[in-house]
Amino acid sequence: MFTFVKQSILQTKQTGAVWPSGRRLARTMTSPLLDSKGPRRILEVGPGTGVFTREICKQLRPDDTYDIVEINPTFCRHVEQKVLPRHIDPKNLHQVRIHCDSLENVVLEPGYDHVFCGLPFNNFEPWLVRSLFRKMISLMAEEGTLSFFEYIGVRMMRAPLVGRSGRKRSTDIERINKSLRRRFHGRREAVLCNIPPAYAVHLQPVA
Ligand SMILES: C[S@@+](CC[C@H](N)C(=O)[O-])C[C@H]1O[C@@H](n2cnc3c(N)ncnc32)[C@H](O)[C@@H]1O
Repeated sequence: MFTFVKQSILQTKQTGAVWPSGRRLARTMTSPLLDSKGPRRILEVGPGTGVFTREICKQLRPDDTYDIVEINPTFCRHVEQKVLPRHIDPKNLHQVRIHCDSLENVVLEPGYDHVFCGLPFNNFEPWLVRSLFRKMISLMAEEGTLSFFEYIGVRMMRAPLVGRSGRKRSTDIERINKSLRRRFHGRREAVLCNIPPAYAVHLQPVA
């Protein structure tokens, strides 16, 4: 918790929240793993202190592979030293690879069955949001899933504080999200007991 709060001050824009997600949101985000058949290729982007990582580790099967992409070296070290050793059987550690890099720059082989994304899209410019989604979609397997989250009502709450250009940015990001949900059979699940409450959004090209 302390690591997350400290990084939210030092790397405000990248971290995008003052508090890590709660366990209920993590379970809802990672629910596509429950009924998928293995072996699976799993990608997580932006784990922070590893709230989703823990849930993914619980559901990891011996023939799955799991790549983690995180831009912040402090979070990479935290996941590597504190999360993985506690939540994964040591003999299965070879299944997990941490890429301490940005999603924009990391080179990965496409074909992921499940992509879980914790990026703070509301802090990014619309062109970057588009390009990050394009990259994640290009990495998905044909029948793969992409799950991300958005805070409920955050755009409305921010509106009076951010000025006209900020409001336009929010509207553009909302438009991108809506169009993704239309194109990829998006399903939203509200998780009210999160701080702040959030929607887990699941996209899947094939319904
Ligand atoms: C809102 S935090 C989410 C952390 C965690 N998933 C959670 O829900 O508590 C966003 C995370 O995305 C990471 N991040 C931001 N921009 C990134 C990028 N371009 N590539 C990879 N990771 C990024 C941040 O360092 C941070 O760990």
